[in-house]
Parts: sequence; structure tokens; C-alpha cells
Amino acid sequence: MATKRASLSITSLTLLLYFLTFSFSVFARPSTFLDDFHVTWSDSHIKQIGGNAIQLILDQSSGCGFASKNKYLFGRVSMKIKLIPGDSAGTVTAFYMNSDTDTVRDELDFEFLGNRTGQPYTVQTNVYAHGKGDREQRVNLWFDPAADFHTYAILWNHHHVVFYVDDVPIRVYKNNEAKGIPFPKFQPMGVYSTLWEADDWATRGGLEKIDWSKAPFYAYYKDFDIEGCPVPGPASCTSNARNWWEGPSYQQLDSIQARKYRWVRINHMIYDYCTDKSRYPVTPPECMAGI
Ligand SMILES: *[C@@H]1O[C@H](CO)[C@@H](O)[C@H](O)[C@H]1NC(C)=O
Repeated sequence: MATKRASLSITSLTLLLYFLTFSFSVFARPSTFLDDFHVTWSDSHIKQIGGNAIQLILDQSSGCGFASKNKYLFGRVSMKIKLIPGDSAGTVTAFYMNSDTDTVRDELDFEFLGNRTGQPYTVQTNVYAHGKGDREQRVNLWFDPAADFHTYAILWNHHHVVFYVDDVPIRVYKNNEAKGIPFPKFQPMGVYSTLWEADDWATRGGLEKIDWSKAPFYAYYKDFDIEGCPVPGPASCTSNARNWWEGPSYQQLDSIQARKYRWVRINHMIYDYCTDKSRYPVTPPECMAGI
């Protein structure tokens, strides 16, 4: 079976027990938090609510974080997130993949930058490939991400990395290795999330400070879904062209997705490192090669 759900990459004994207990239906349902993740930072600030959702808490004593138990090489990870409502200025909720290799880090980031009540949330994305990052883009969300859950996903295959907000691609980083541009391809990445205070830079460049009188701040996550090749795992998985996320319809944006992507970039993008001449007098090569 090409598709390796995160919940399958447990030891074979546990797997056997799973089969006996839940039968095949376990493949179909989204995995629960504790199947796939563990708390990395401040147990007391992450609460399981119901079977399938968690609450992240930020107060003056601490933020918190969690990470996947496994690493993956290619696949798609998605989560439904409901961000901090009201005055969230100075808070950052991050959802990202990271190879955890300091010097040659690969990383794919979603960072949700809070704002004053009624002001738009900003989503900052970044791509590190073979240790080189500094590829920030920022999009202001066109809806209130604290009013409801929305799906945030990263698709990662041999052709490109796509960041999705619901069904809208907000960023595409293409594999342009043929043109000498690094692409994350060799290192498995774990899935991480954190909620923390970053009022030295997050909101209007650090001008807006966090209002601790509004604390504690809460963000909610549910419907964790990781489909990819777990590492360690069968080596054949990574190069298997039959994995669904490598399929023809995932190799480039279709015309509907391409239209949504253009719509976001024209109407909601507020920063793009590609066009930041003060930082990059010479346009970075990947900005010319891709769309
Ligand atoms: C916050 O709101 C201001 C005013 O609308 C906007 O310029 C900014 O991009 C928003 N996001 C952040 C993170 O400051």
C-alpha cells in the first residue's frame, strides 16, 4: 500500500493490536493527536479536548509546542486550526515541517502573526532548502481565522512544495534543481507546532506589543492528517511514483488552483522577498525561474 498514514508507522506489535481492535476503519479516519504527536514544550499549556482536538495556551508564564513522533519524506500534512480571537497582536502560532538538522536545515513554515482586534491576521511562509532560508512571503488572510476552523496544508512532492489555506494555494516553491536551485529532497522532516510570544517582531514589525491583560490566549487544532513516507520506513516508499501525492494532478497547479493563486498574490500578498530590492539587490534565482 503506497499511502502510509502516520498512525501506521508504529511498531508492528502495536500495529497488530490496532488491526485487531479497530479493523480496517483505522485507515479511513483522521488520526488523533496522541497517535501522531507528542508535547515538546510545556505540557501544562496543551490540553486535549474531546477525542480529536487540542487547545494551545499562551500566558505570561509560557507558550507551548508539539511535534510529530515521526519524520516524513514527501507527502501532505494538514491541520484545522482556529486562531486566537480578538486582540492577538504579538502572538505567533506556527505550523511547520523541519528536518531538525542545524547546518543543512530544510524547513517549510506557516507562521500566523496575530493582530489588534479587527485587523487582519498575517500568514508568513518561509522555505529553507539545504540550510538556506530568508525566503519570507506574507499574505493577509481574507477571512477571520479565529471565527472558525480552517484547513492549512503543506503538499511536498518531487515537483514542488505548495502551501494551502483551505483550497487556495498561497505559495508554490518549485523544484528547479535543474537550474541549480536547492530543493528539499534528501532529508525527512517532522511536523511541528508552537504558540509563543514574538512581540519584538511579529505585529507591524514589533511596534504592537502583546496585551497580557487579555491572556491567556487560546488556539485550537483538530483533524490532524499526515500522509507521507515515514522515515525510518520502507525505502521504496519515497521513490514510489504511485504515491497519490506524486500523481499527475499534484505535479502542478490545475487551472482553477492557478487562478486562486493569482487572486491571492494580487489581492492579499503584502510582502514578497522576491521583490524586496533593499534585501536582495539581485533577484534570487528561484524568483525568476518560478511563477
Ligand atoms: C495588522 O494590521 C495592519 C493594519 O491593517 C496591517 O498593515 C498588518 O499587515 C497586519 N498584520 C501584522 C502582522 O501586523
